Amino acid sequence: MFITFEGIDGAGKSTQVVKLKRHLQERGREVLTLREPGGTPVAEQIRELLLESHNDITSIAELLLFSASRAELMEKIIMPALEDGCDVILDRFFDSTTAYQGYGRGLNLDMLADINRIASHGIRPDITFYLDLTPEDALMRKFSEKSLPLAFESEELDRMENSGLEFYQRVRAGYHAILEAEPQRIVMIDALLTPPEIHRKILSNLHNFEVTSDGKN
Ligand SMILES: Nc1ncnc2c1ncn2[C@@H]1O[C@H](COP(=O)(O)OP(=O)(O)O)[C@@H](O)[C@H]1O
Ligand SMILES: [Mg+2]
Repeated sequence: MFITFEGIDGAGKSTQVVKLKRHLQERGREVLTLREPGGTPVAEQIRELLLESHNDITSIAELLLFSASRAELMEKIIMPALEDGCDVILDRFFDSTTAYQGYGRGLNLDMLADINRIASHGIRPDITFYLDLTPEDALMRKFSEKSLPLAFESEELDRMENSGLEFYQRVRAGYHAILEAEPQRIVMIDALLTPPEIHRKILSNLHNFEVTSDGKN
């Protein structure tokens, strides 16, 4: 199975990836967990370029760098793993591109759909968990984690995180639009629930998915 996690920084993706991995492994599955951008030597270098807070990058260049990282990861790691029967859990995928570069930065959504298809080799996740959190709550989590005063622009944040509150509000609205367009693939979960509550919701949705997809095959 190919499972992706989406949501703004601080929503709890990494926390849930770890829990889900453990659960699937306990059920005897072979599980590979990855996060974008990155995952191959070239993709990790692209990650550094993208997140380094002093880099000034145009929106199109940013789009192509994220997509280049994705194409590397897809062809070298994810496609072979899926072919071997592994479950792949990926922290961020093309919905992030649509939400951040499309709704956040304002790039053309049809163009993004084409580039997303190219970079992902036409492969789509079986199921996507979107953890929904307001940018204000996300920032509060981030700063309480680091015990810092609350600010929407800070040396402590990476280049993407330093894009400001309104940018993150557009990104969140973008995620909601993506969800509306593909409710059969994407499951939205309230990120303010506790980690165990979110984990339980993920497992029950996965169970439903397995039951219905077995029925179809
Ligand atoms: N459901 C939750 N409720 C409260 N805090 C959470 C929850 N999930 C994660 N956190 C905390 O919020 C911060 C961000 O979580 P993380 O899993 O790293 O999010 P992401 O990977 O989406 O950026 C961490 O300090 C984490 O311990
Ligand atoms: Mg994370």
